[in-house]
Amino acid sequence: MTCIQNNFKASSIVKILLRSLMVLIIIHIFVVHFINDIMKNRILVTGGTGYIGSHTVVELQNSGYEVIIIDNLSNSNADVVDNIEKVSGIRPEFFELDCLDYNGLDQLFTKMKGIKAIIHFAASKAVGESVEKPLLYYKNNLVSLINLLDLMPKHGIEGIVFSSSCTVYGQPDELPVTENAPIKKAESPYGNTKQINEEIIRDTVASGAPIKAIMLRYFNPIGAHPTAFLGELPNGVPQNLVPYITQTAIGIREQLSVFGDDYDTPDGTCIRDFINVVDLAKAHVIAINRILEDKQKEKVEVFNIGTGIGLSILDLINAFEKSTGVKLNYKIVGRRAGDIEKVWANPDFANNELGWKAGTSIEDTLLSAWNWQLKLRERGIQ
Ligand code: UD1
Repeated sequence: MTCIQNNFKASSIVKILLRSLMVLIIIHIFVVHFINDIMKNRILVTGGTGYIGSHTVVELQNSGYEVIIIDNLSNSNADVVDNIEKVSGIRPEFFELDCLDYNGLDQLFTKMKGIKAIIHFAASKAVGESVEKPLLYYKNNLVSLINLLDLMPKHGIEGIVFSSSCTVYGQPDELPVTENAPIKKAESPYGNTKQINEEIIRDTVASGAPIKAIMLRYFNPIGAHPTAFLGELPNGVPQNLVPYITQTAIGIREQLSVFGDDYDTPDGTCIRDFINVVDLAKAHVIAINRILEDKQKEKVEVFNIGTGIGLSILDLINAFEKSTGVKLNYKIVGRRAGDIEKVWANPDFANNELGWKAGTSIEDTLLSAWNWQLKLRERGIQ
């Protein structure tokens, strides 16, 4: 009798233990899923207070991602974080950090667990300055990427979207230019850093590192957020065309110089593919989705991000005057050293494969740049 009772007790204890174990397993699965779920959308944006970075942060937030920004504020301002919050209603986490700081990055990744992917904007980007200070450009632009790629596997970060440029094509032999066009010798150290960075990514992934990458080759990003809370804020005299146009139109600069009208183009001025910055930002969200949803056809993919429309500098000036009603004071001067005569994208691959298309008209884009300039004056910034 005692023996039967003992056996009964033992089997009851085993049953209870088994049930408890099952409950624990279910709780564990639930907790892991829950943690994964709240963390699955965490994206790091380097250079996130910069021009393209800030617009991309907003689009990521609008798509449900949780964004962490790092920026060394060398070419931007911490106020941008406030403006991002005004536009999206969500304040991104911000850390003032330089991508050259390997230990700082390592600590950040340890602290902010669960980052799934990185969008890497942080870089020096002035073509002329890069000719004068090549080592600064090689150090900033190459070491930053190397640090990130080196740390990604250790922290389980699976993907990177890299800001590349149409500058890698130089003057293409065929237009519109496709992603398969040959890479030409770079015209400047800045351009060379984009080419070398693309190679660094390819070689790292080819070595077997558990990293997926999408490289977006931007054409000429212009315009501002339609709310006029975000836009391009150049340091000193603008080197790029559209900030120079809006600063001339508002009276900060006396006159725009158009660099050369003796090019082999219909009106003699250079031709570019001007891409709206919000449209460009949206391409990054699609690239991130593609990486995280495992939809890539190859571990490293490259896309042209442009409109497919080539506009001359005079076309752009006309469109600006038409959309804003403001007359622009400009004169034709000599060519600028190192300028490419004409380049515009064949965006078919991005249109078909990513399902992304530039949708904003040039008039609306230029109007957004103008509204941004007006807003800067209102805020007493420029
Ligand atoms: C360059 C780079 C591009 C880079 C971008 C970032 C090359 C070939 N291109 O673009 O990769 O992402 O800078 O800064 O290296 N212009 C004027 N007057 C001005 C300013 C510009 O006429 O005051 C003309 C230029 O001669 C050029 C066009 O406007 O034909 C666009 O110039 P810019 O805005 O500087 O861009 P890119 O040189 O095309």
